Amino acid sequence: MITFDGVTKRYAGGTVAVDDLGLEVPTGEITVFVGPSGCGKTTSLRMINRMVDPTGGRVLLDGVDVTTIDPPTLRRGIGYVIQQAGLFPHRKVVDNVATVPRLLGWERRRARARAMELLERVGLEAALADRYPFQLSGGQQQRVGVARALAADPPVLLMDEPFSAVDPVVRASLQDELLRLQAELRKTIVFVTHDIDEAIKLGDRVAVLRVGGRLAQLDAPARLLAEPADDFVREFLGRDRGIRLLSFVPSGDLPLRTDLTVPVSAAASARGTAEPWLALVDDGGRPLGWIAPRSLPDSGTPADLRPEPYGTFVRGRDPLRSVLDAALLSPSGHAIAVDESGRVEGVVTREALDAALARATGDARG
Ligand SMILES: Nc1ncnc2c1ncn2[C@@H]1O[C@H](COP(=O)(O)OP(=O)(O)OP(=O)(O)O)[C@@H](O)[C@H]1O
Ligand SMILES: [Mg+2]
Repeated sequence: MITFDGVTKRYAGGTVAVDDLGLEVPTGEITVFVGPSGCGKTTSLRMINRMVDPTGGRVLLDGVDVTTIDPPTLRRGIGYVIQQAGLFPHRKVVDNVATVPRLLGWERRRARARAMELLERVGLEAALADRYPFQLSGGQQQRVGVARALAADPPVLLMDEPFSAVDPVVRASLQDELLRLQAELRKTIVFVTHDIDEAIKLGDRVAVLRVGGRLAQLDAPARLLAEPADDFVREFLGRDRGIRLLSFVPSGDLPLRTDLTVPVSAAASARGTAEPWLALVDDGGRPLGWIAPRSLPDSGTPADLRPEPYGTFVRGRDPLRSVLDAALLSPSGHAIAVDESGRVEGVVTREALDAALARATGDARG
């Protein structure tokens, strides 16, 4: 655990970059520092590995004041990733990644083997290992940067806007990759960004800072979206707050109607049903679309049924946002629930969805 205990940083010249910051970064979680430019994110991060020392208060690593640990020893346990990756331009990719293990005295072959393993872990082909950084794309360079930070298997990882120099598509895949790695590695990560969407996607907890280095709010993403502490946080969170909140609401407890589905073999007998819409299901249990029983042809083959478009969600796995999306894609206004293998489990009606939406966003309206 990393603890900021009343931490202040006043630079020579008088700028107060961080002002009486108090917060805890729990072990094995991702804590994101987010806020506008100049709010003290980088300064806060660098006080953890002593690239900057506080002028007031203390930063504790597992209860020990970091200023009592000499920087090289401290940094052995702390990986550091920055924007543009910060790779050594004259060293090959594999040697960049092997840098810290080599400094720790690992024998060359072992360090190289570790580097190759890490390159694979971050999704890079072995063939790239012998290139120089300038021969890689921006996204590939960032992956090398992450691999290099992980090389000595440090328990703590500091990441300062590591993905902000790449395009949105590459950025999204780097974020997914980080979450996948973290599920395995469970590092204590402090991640700095000025992008609130990135913060909400990656953070177990998000610290919103305001200029002057003051903490505006520290909460889990769902709580932040539902209950911003003040107007500054609300504005910083931006538009679509209500919709984005739905990404954090589970769908597992939505009531399912199983009487609104009909197998294609029995479609003809559905003609008398009072329901305006039924979900048509094939012989394998997979959805085919919506049919309106009243407008079914009097005779004909299943091919004549012409089911209407539909949307599905995986119940329990996908959030309420996916249920809303599935409902919006269906003329019936209902969402089809499927299991992990794509088989229909039932239907969540618009009425049931409305009730769940009202419950989910109740807190956010205040
Ligand atoms: N070495 C320094 N000497 C004097 N002032 C500094 C120094 N480094 C940073 N500052 C000032 O401290 C404040 C916080 O800077 P910091 O780099 O921590 O902000 P940041 O939140 O990381 O911003 P950005 O999003 O632009 O990276 C700014 O006003 C900055 O100008
Ligand atoms: Mg910064």
